[in-house]
Amino acid sequence: MSPSWLNKARWTQVRKDAEFNRLRRISSPSYVFRGNNSVLWDLQGEEEILLCGAAGTGKTLAILCFINELAWRYAGLRVLIVRKVRVDLTRTTLVTYERDVMGYGNPLVATVQRESRKVYRYPNKSEIVIGGMDRPGSILSGEYDIIYPAEAVQFTLNDWETLIMRLRSGVYPYPAIIGDTNPDRKEHWLKQRSDKGVTKLLNTYHKDNPAYWDIVAQQWTPAGVRYVLGKLSRLTGVRKERYLLNKWVNAEGMIYEDWNEDIHLINADDLPDFKFRIRSIDFGFNNPFVCQWWGVDYDGRAYLYREIYQTRLLVEDAAVLIKNLTGDEHIQADIADHDAEDRETLRRRGINTIPADKAVSEGLQEVMGRIRVEDDGKPRLFIVRGARVTEDIELKSAGMPTSTQEEIGGYIWNDKKNKDEPVKADDHGMDTMRYAMMYLRNEVGTKVLTEWWTDD
Ligand SMILES: Nc1ncnc2c1ncn2[C@@H]1O[C@H](COP(=O)(O)OP(=O)(O)OP(=O)(O)O)[C@@H](O)[C@H]1O
Ligand SMILES: [Mg+2]
Repeated sequence: MSPSWLNKARWTQVRKDAEFNRLRRISSPSYVFRGNNSVLWDLQGEEEILLCGAAGTGKTLAILCFINELAWRYAGLRVLIVRKVRVDLTRTTLVTYERDVMGYGNPLVATVQRESRKVYRYPNKSEIVIGGMDRPGSILSGEYDIIYPAEAVQFTLNDWETLIMRLRSGVYPYPAIIGDTNPDRKEHWLKQRSDKGVTKLLNTYHKDNPAYWDIVAQQWTPAGVRYVLGKLSRLTGVRKERYLLNKWVNAEGMIYEDWNEDIHLINADDLPDFKFRIRSIDFGFNNPFVCQWWGVDYDGRAYLYREIYQTRLLVEDAAVLIKNLTGDEHIQADIADHDAEDRETLRRRGINTIPADKAVSEGLQEVMGRIRVEDDGKPRLFIVRGARVTEDIELKSAGMPTSTQEEIGGYIWNDKKNKDEPVKADDHGMDTMRYAMMYLRNEVGTKVLTEWWTDD
């Protein structure tokens, strides 16, 4: 070994170390965490942890910063960040990770598109794997030191137990599953599991989040005034209880009381062949524009397999999106709310709509009938997990439903005794679904189908 070679090797190492330290520095944000958002380091040895809180209490940022710090400290750490549906990670958790933890421009997050991201790699061989339980594929063949199920109430108990099996005693001595969630139904399995002490549930509050509460001045920050006192305070019913007040409560007077996510939600891979397809549309701009694609199988069962649920979408742009998403699928009919101008906008872009049958009471009966489980053990209405194509971040951060599926649990009777009309809030997917089911009842139930194309 010549001295010059030695110097070169050492110089290379020095440069590598400097680059490593630079990357670590730019990837280490200095947030202050308060309350239960700050205790993750003290819970070593706890295998199941759940940060629970109203919307925007800082849970996601706290968990991501914890994971990031572990990844730097423990070379070769393996982490899984998982959501029930993979696409829903893209605009929420991964944005928080890339923007607020690592920082845009950071080379560790810059190379791959977020939608197709499968893993984040650290220079010390630590890895954060990304996935969804809708397409578990390879994520469940690996083992992990930390597993972060984001929005944990969306998982089934079976999912949760499957994830626990993937924990390993690797480079980090305290493998753990650390989830976060907003509260949900009182009898949700995750609440029960926490009440039994199997999962350690830690509550987080808006005043724990420095972005919203100024602890020195003891007052809401301007962002806190806008978000907590503004947006969240405008919520109503069960959503207010859960997303503003952090309470596990049930909606009283639920209209579709037979709705059961274990029965009515299915994975896209389990869909049967469709005999025909329809689309149902409800217009909105400040409220979400909703377009639902329904497939009907040979037994007449209806499956909501794709959905646009988006605010601030112009009808003309929606028309383009609808056509792109539909591709070469043959749509037998388009049913829409009655707004003449909006229907005309769609017509000019090749989507000819039939005005919906908006009879509320009959529509509700029709949907209820389809949701009811029949003698063969199956209902006649299903929603495909992950049907909604893009999560509307404005709605999500305001604690509002972001899909038809998310409306159902909070869709309640105005008068719980008389049960004659629904509360008119968060019902855009509900209306659209009624239009579709009324079309099936009126047009398909009685007539032979005449197949036709929209003239695009
Ligand atoms: N410790 C902190 N310091 C500064 N800003 C924070 C902190 N914690 C959270 N925030 C900011 O507050 C906002 C909400 O945080 P976050 O998304 O982590 O909340 P959450 O509890 O996960 O919300 P949700 O229930 O809606 O998922 C984000 O913009 C985040 O950057
Ligand atoms: Mg969150």
